[in-house]
Amino acid sequence: MNQAFNLQGKTAVITGGTRGIGKAIALGLAESGADIVLLQRSDDTSAQEQMRALGVRCEIVRCDMENLDEVKQAIPKAIEMMGSVEILVNNAGIQRRAPAVEFTEQDWDDVIKVNLKAVWVLCQQAGRHMLEKKGGKIINIASIATFQGGLYVPAYASAKGAVGQLTKALANEWSSAGINVNAIVPGYIATEMNTALIEDPVRSRQILERIPAGRWGNPEDFKGAAIFLASDAANYVNGHLLAVDGGWLGR
Ligand SMILES: NC(=O)c1ccc[n+]([C@@H]2O[C@H](COP(=O)([O-])OP(=O)(O)OC[C@H]3O[C@@H](n4cnc5c(N)ncnc54)[C@H](OP(=O)(O)O)[C@@H]3O)[C@@H](O)[C@H]2O)c1
Repeated sequence: MNQAFNLQGKTAVITGGTRGIGKAIALGLAESGADIVLLQRSDDTSAQEQMRALGVRCEIVRCDMENLDEVKQAIPKAIEMMGSVEILVNNAGIQRRAPAVEFTEQDWDDVIKVNLKAVWVLCQQAGRHMLEKKGGKIINIASIATFQGGLYVPAYASAKGAVGQLTKALANEWSSAGINVNAIVPGYIATEMNTALIEDPVRSRQILERIPAGRWGNPEDFKGAAIFLASDAANYVNGHLLAVDGGWLGR
């Protein structure tokens, strides 16, 4: 492997690594040699077992992104467990769909809590540690809804828009300290989050027709971008929002 992409000796903390895009990213980082801490709410050890089978250390810190106390304790726990944290991937996210006039306050609060507030708290906690260590990589998972309003997803678009701005704001503060804060922008990816769209033949066809690559993305499409942004190869990449969208945003 090109040494610039080698993550051996580094610890990556990732949220939402139990399935979907987050699990593929965690596996990609582990394949490049990183030890992994999964911040997850469930007891499921299947992702952990897959990482360990690659020969890296993988630990679980229990953390429900809707529980602010658990979110605040997660990075300190990971540091205590592993000694230090070099990489943070904020991937966990939820979706709630409804026309704006029917959108409930509960759905609004849940989406903002998981998709934005937890991201901010984890960035702040990791940033404090990385500033002391004089280096680190933070990768936030944004969305094409960072740039576009979407349909029936007002809270999600608001949260993801803010994740893009937060990424740039933190990069402005921390880049000179050797901390690279960047984001990955997924397009339409075939995961459980999109079951409603995939099962709607009209929306599904309309979306597919607009993707220049001619297919929906899959979680494995994110390994390369994540390894790059987590590695020394990205040392001069700051505040960047990297689209992995089959060309959607350029259309
Ligand atoms: N799929 C797409 O087309 C798409 C497009 C743009 C952006 N994204 C973004 O990419 C990221 C991953 O999406 P995905 O499609 O892989 O989603 P997914 O398959 O639905 O997986 C979501 C992950 O987030 C975790 N999670 C959700 N709520 C949580 C909570 N309260 N506490 C802890 N973990 C929680 C889930 O854990 P459990 O297993 O415990 O539920 C799961 O690991 C999200 O930020 C999403 O917004 C996805």
